[in-house]
Amino acid sequence: MLIKPMVRNSICINAHPLGCAADTERQIEYVRERSASYGRLSGPKAVLVLGCSTGYGLATRIGAAFGFRAPTVGVSYEKEPSETSTGTPGWYNNRAFDAAATAEALPALTLNGDAFSKETKARAIETARELGLKFDLVVYSLASPVRTDPESGEMYRSVIKPIGGPYRGLTVDPFTKELSYAEVQPATQAETAATVKVMGGEDWELWIRALAEAGVLAAGATTVAYSYVGPKLSWPIYREGTIGAAKAHLEATAARLPALAPVGLHAYVSINKALVTRASAVIPVIPLYMSLLFRVMKDRGIHEDCIAQIDRLYRERLYTGAPLQLDEAGRIRLDELEMGQAVQAEVDARIQRVTAENLMELADVEGFRLDFLRAHGFEVEGVDYGAEVSPIGLPLRQARHGAGKRGSGLVAAPEKSSSRAMDASASPPSGLV
Ligand SMILES: NC(=O)c1ccc[n+]([C@@H]2O[C@H](COP(=O)([O-])OP(=O)(O)OC[C@H]3O[C@@H](n4cnc5c(N)ncnc54)[C@H](O)[C@@H]3O)[C@@H](O)[C@H]2O)c1
Repeated sequence: MLIKPMVRNSICINAHPLGCAADTERQIEYVRERSASYGRLSGPKAVLVLGCSTGYGLATRIGAAFGFRAPTVGVSYEKEPSETSTGTPGWYNNRAFDAAATAEALPALTLNGDAFSKETKARAIETARELGLKFDLVVYSLASPVRTDPESGEMYRSVIKPIGGPYRGLTVDPFTKELSYAEVQPATQAETAATVKVMGGEDWELWIRALAEAGVLAAGATTVAYSYVGPKLSWPIYREGTIGAAKAHLEATAARLPALAPVGLHAYVSINKALVTRASAVIPVIPLYMSLLFRVMKDRGIHEDCIAQIDRLYRERLYTGAPLQLDEAGRIRLDELEMGQAVQAEVDARIQRVTAENLMELADVEGFRLDFLRAHGFEVEGVDYGAEVSPIGLPLRQARHGAGKRGSGLVAAPEKSSSRAMDASASPPSGLV
């Protein structure tokens, strides 16, 4: 079938298999090219990435595997394709990652399941034992709209709302290129609590507790979760809103984690740059801010994507051999280029004067649109979108090298992955940053 993007309300409900594979391979190539400079660095030895299939998590896994040749276990929750409908982008990304890892004999295993559940935690532990791994790096990169509490069975739904009063801010539709005001009513206390339950640190803590108790954390391991701060103009809807409350909880959790691992554990939150991922596109006002930011950063030659950010996380932060530089709140900062005074002043000035007439000159709305589509495998360079493709067809590399099977040199296990796939059309696959 011909696969064209189906976008509804900032959510793309399908994905292109070959485009996802090609974009995953592009990121792998980026890391391969730079890995010559990793020579003197001692990197991670065994890595668990929670939320490994798209955005920052995928980049994290690619950086560990192809930059440091570390065995990786990845966990994500993806919908499998059928003959008539596509899977989620992460499903294709994972297959492309697995195939590339297989081709290089890199130990890698991908689990498809709900990371919030006890069952998935048990599977990850069992996998580590089977592969003889003790993780020395665990990265928490989940972005989810819902979480079922593993004890009570209650489902919590996160919302992106201000707290205490309504929010009104200018935003842009990247497809129609129209400016409009987004208005969001304040969250109830229950909504704020639910958002903290989904996107706060509770599940990160449960993961670390489970891994430590099972003895699959290496002595002196590091765990990192990702967060965002952003400019003041976004704070009413982000940092000071429901999602900010969840991030504050996540950041506070980092301080509690070392006590859970008697073998020694370092826990950090890394504040990353704003980027278009499946999660971030749904936040009001952020598309306009990001479009302006991208124009300013690209004009200055300092724009980065997920893989460039994570490459720096490894090379310039975590594995330099020198003591880790943290901000006053104890966090790793990868957003220093975005938050630089000159960049923020320029973005601010542009926000004050943006109109329908000068929008395309001041802002990179087209760049935002392309990144959004690319996150779903569309508009990726080198892919023939006019060609018929089967939604369940093997990505190119996998077709070339053959699908990985468990036991054939520690490669991916797609066959064990399908039991609890989620419906891509039912929810914004990630929902929140
Ligand atoms: N995108 C940004 O601008 C940005 C900036 C700074 C920090 N962050 C943070 O980075 C983290 C990752 O966000 P992203 O933008 O890369 O999102 P994303 O949507 O690209 O990735 C989310 C990942 O979580 C996985 N996931 C969601 N629910 C799951 C579940 N129940 N079980 C297992 N896996 C599940 C998805 O499969 C996917 O792999 C978030 O904590 C976000 O706040 C994002």
